[in-house]
Amino acid sequence: MYRVEERMSALAGAYGEALAEAARATISAGGKRLRPLLVCLASGVPVEESEELIRSAVAVELVHAATLVHDDVLDGASLRRGRPTVVARSGRLLATATGDLLFSRAFAELSAGGSIEAVRSLSRAASALAAGELMQREDAWNPTVTVERYLERCRLKTGVLFRAACELGAIEGERIAAGGGSADGNGASASRVAALAEFGERIGVAFQLLDDVLDVTGPPSRTGKPQGADLLDGTVNLPLILARDLDPSLRTLDLRGVRTADDAAAVCARIADTRALELARARALEQVAAAKDALPELATRHRAALEVIADGVVERYS
Ligand code: IPE
Ligand code: IPE
Ligand code: MG
Ligand code: MG
Repeated sequence: MYRVEERMSALAGAYGEALAEAARATISAGGKRLRPLLVCLASGVPVEESEELIRSAVAVELVHAATLVHDDVLDGASLRRGRPTVVARSGRLLATATGDLLFSRAFAELSAGGSIEAVRSLSRAASALAAGELMQREDAWNPTVTVERYLERCRLKTGVLFRAACELGAIEGERIAAGGGSADGNGASASRVAALAEFGERIGVAFQLLDDVLDVTGPPSRTGKPQGADLLDGTVNLPLILARDLDPSLRTLDLRGVRTADDAAAVCARIADTRALELARARALEQVAAAKDALPELATRHRAALEVIADGVVERYS
């Protein structure tokens, strides 16, 4: 992970001071670095053996960072990783360009040495992310969003990048195991890559479910993001969908009337008074259990670490 950090800072520094500053600030603000960790672990091989693995891990985290910068433009968010967002600090134009830069650096990094399947996987994820973010805008303020549609949104905007992280790690791991050549055409390795990809997608969906629970519970001092941000930007998430079924007084709530942080905090408290958060957590736990069932044979310590991450996706406060 140290090498991942080093490589990311080096990449963010290029392409003009204005962009470099915002890109560097985004990267140096930290974050959990969950996706690059998944790349390394899903490979099933010692990381020291491959420069490509580090490149893949960096590429996935850069796509994630790019998405966050753009996501904060779309959501009009003020706080990220405990700091003002790029859009809040420098406006929409710079934030859009910073996200674009991070995206392009991600693909430059991956295509410099990664396999074509790896590039395909990450570009599929970037497209899915865009589709998921658009779906969220389309559904904004709409109280009749179904649980199925909500889950599809989570899969697109979050699950598919977790899928790509595991897929990239698995592809590179298979390549190393095959002695540096392509692992293509080997049925056993293809099914291993597919199984790790499924594991990734499921924990990704669970991760978004928990993110939506944390949006209700906060507090910003732990999450680094404003509490009730989803309510304020019209995002109808699972806790709200479930709470509306449990508390009839929430059924008549017009989200457009939720305008201030205090309004949002009051609605969060009403959601928390129902069993909605517990039920949303239970859904996340189901996904985690299914993810663990999907895990293929791996070196014991890699497998154990992936299981710890899967559990940690639901047991977290930031
Ligand atoms: C935030 O992701 C965006 C979601 C998919 C919910 P993370 O919670 O992984 O963000 P960082 O990288 O740790 O800040
Ligand atoms: C995740 O959804 C969006 C991305 C995939 C970037 P959110 O909008 O809930 O993410 P946060 O809460 O802003 O990190
Ligand atoms: Mg957001
Ligand atoms: Mg969120």
